[in-house]
Amino acid sequence: MKLLQVALDTAVETGKMIKERQGSAVKIVEKSSPYDLVTEVDQEAEMLIRSRINQAFPEHQILGEEGVYQGQEVSLEDSEYVWLVDPIDGTNNFIKGLPGYTVSIGLACRGELIVGVVYDPTTNELFWGEKGKGAYLNENRLQVSSVSNLTESTVATGFPSDIHQHRAQVMNQIQKLGGICLNVRVLGSAALHLVYVAAGRLEAFWEPGLNIWDTAAGTLIVQEAGGMVTSMQGEAFDLSTRGVVASNGRLHERLGSIL
Ligand code: IPD
Ligand code: CA
Repeated sequence: MKLLQVALDTAVETGKMIKERQGSAVKIVEKSSPYDLVTEVDQEAEMLIRSRINQAFPEHQILGEEGVYQGQEVSLEDSEYVWLVDPIDGTNNFIKGLPGYTVSIGLACRGELIVGVVYDPTTNELFWGEKGKGAYLNENRLQVSSVSNLTESTVATGFPSDIHQHRAQVMNQIQKLGGICLNVRVLGSAALHLVYVAAGRLEAFWEPGLNIWDTAAGTLIVQEAGGMVTSMQGEAFDLSTRGVVASNGRLHERLGSIL
């Protein structure tokens, strides 16, 4: 219980800090390419999350997007408890003053996801799940949608920063799916897309080339809401999975065959 509570409190505290900083003069820096941006708020948010986790669980490992960018590596296989953290998932929305950025905090124990929290400070929606105990939006239990055909499905994807490989792949996939499903959304945060699948707001989400900090928390929440998450090739999700296909389960095979 303490594990979940620390994740919930930390996500909300960090999200509120991030929201307060939106619109202020933030310094924008390119990471791997002009399509991959970071601000000092991403870095401060990760430091805040690290300090809260370190205070509560000094022996735990933390793998965070901005720490990895600065060269802090963690061995996922050798660690007992590893926190998987994206301090701002949807940095581009944050920079542009758009809604749809989240704090994503997952926790794995010996390679298995056990806690996931995704907080959207723009809507004050707190999505969370615990292994074997269900998924929730604030106090309300989440359940994936029951739609079973693509014609009635709203699906989402992302626009990866790796434009030559993964973004090109996504454009091709939208071309194939766009004429079949009800609608396609690109909201700008993989974690938000995942929890929207869990909440039944989307039937499915896919995106190649993601990192574990984008997907860990949201994946557990989808699974605990009765949905399915696999790699792009249809293999079971594990901590080495990069791109994902997430769905309400009923559409998974059909979607996979088109992608
Ligand atoms: C990005 C978001 C976006 C996705 C990109 C990610 P970031 O994460 O999740 O939706 O399309 O692939 O990199 O950079 O905002 O943490
Ligand atoms: Ca991020």
